[in-house]
Amino acid sequence: VLSLPPLGVYVHLPWCERKCPYCDFNSHEPSGEPPFEAYVERLLEDLDEDLPWACGRTASTVFLGGGTPSLCPPALIGRLLEGLAARLGLAADVEVTLEANPGSSDAGHFAGYRAAGVTRLSIGVQSFDDASLRALGRIHDADTARRAVRAAKRAGFGQINLDLMHGLPGQDAAGAARDLAAAIVEDVPHLSWYQLTIEQNTVFHRRPPVLPAEDDLAEAQAAGEALLDEGGYTQYEVSAFAREGNACRHNLNYWRFGDYLGLGAGAHGKLTLPEQGGVIRTRRTRSPRDYLRSPAAARRVTEDVATADLPLEYLMNALRLREGGTVAAFEAHTGLSASLLSPARELLVAEGLLESDPRRLCTTPTGFRFLDSVLARFA
Ligand SMILES: C[S@@+](CC[C@H](N)C(=O)[O-])C[C@H]1O[C@@H](n2cnc3c(N)ncnc32)[C@H](O)[C@@H]1O
Ligand code: SF4
Repeated sequence: VLSLPPLGVYVHLPWCERKCPYCDFNSHEPSGEPPFEAYVERLLEDLDEDLPWACGRTASTVFLGGGTPSLCPPALIGRLLEGLAARLGLAADVEVTLEANPGSSDAGHFAGYRAAGVTRLSIGVQSFDDASLRALGRIHDADTARRAVRAAKRAGFGQINLDLMHGLPGQDAAGAARDLAAAIVEDVPHLSWYQLTIEQNTVFHRRPPVLPAEDDLAEAQAAGEALLDEGGYTQYEVSAFAREGNACRHNLNYWRFGDYLGLGAGAHGKLTLPEQGGVIRTRRTRSPRDYLRSPAAARRVTEDVATADLPLEYLMNALRLREGGTVAAFEAHTGLSASLLSPARELLVAEGLLESDPRRLCTTPTGFRFLDSVLARFA
């Protein structure tokens, strides 16, 4: 029997001032002002269609992602959150994250977002090195990033995340460490530290920059993790580091195989159907223009997750967490018996890649470093 996990809401805002050459997110340069007012109306119509899947749950978390949500006027973010509260309901302690690009955030907006109910700001800093920011095609420099962090604090945000990348063009391990140290000095409670990847359908894929060698990347990874640890940040997921009590609850819900509605152009959702006993994924039209045109043009695609795929889907999420998953959560959220995993599990325990605790599904520190090989055993 499937039990209902907590429910989050992901809302996608698909526009950016300029498309970055490494980015394969569903983000577009608008011709003129993005039509946020019409878009917010469509988002709420979209939510109306999805409401039955909430099965009476209110939203524990909301994530306004992009694209660049910080382009959206605060009053419209307010209208969106009021609409979510009226239709679905927001938990009393709801976490509402909004993604901001330092180059597209005026400080006035931040106070407005906070007044509208946003509780957490995630700022796309990427690097504090001006040459790296230029190489990444960003519209901001290091000073602008620092000003955005200061503005977020001044607006009263206690929960602030900075997105950072390493493995940048021309960056050696020492450079990556300097960059991370500059982020730690900013003294925010959460840092996301990603290795730059070259994605299909990006400018960097067509014209690849010169990236650091594997050895340099491994050295930077180890040195960076040590710096973060000294700075008081605990790695709770592959790329997520937080001070005590500051983990992102929305992302934790993804990794614990929780449910989420996906609203907006190209947004994905994942939902448990307790009565039919299955899990579905939903996906919206990617093109903002089609999405805006009409509910019919924006038709949502839903597909069942095959029962055979559920174990790997669960593990691909749970094993990204340092704490891993539990047998109880696996059985409650997939409806399957964990004995299915036994042969692979026993081998991995014997190899020192999985912890031996029979109630948990958790990598050892070595298994955490070689996560892809661990997951391949369950494929
Ligand atoms: C939607 S963006 C954040 C908000 C805003 N759009 C911005 O960039 O400032 C999500 C984050 O994903 C990370 N990211 C995007 N493309 C990436 C890539 N190719 N490799 C690694 N990280 C990437 C960046 O750190 C980025 O801040
Ligand atoms: S600003 Fe963010 S979402 Fe927009 S193109 Fe750049 S990385 Fe992608």
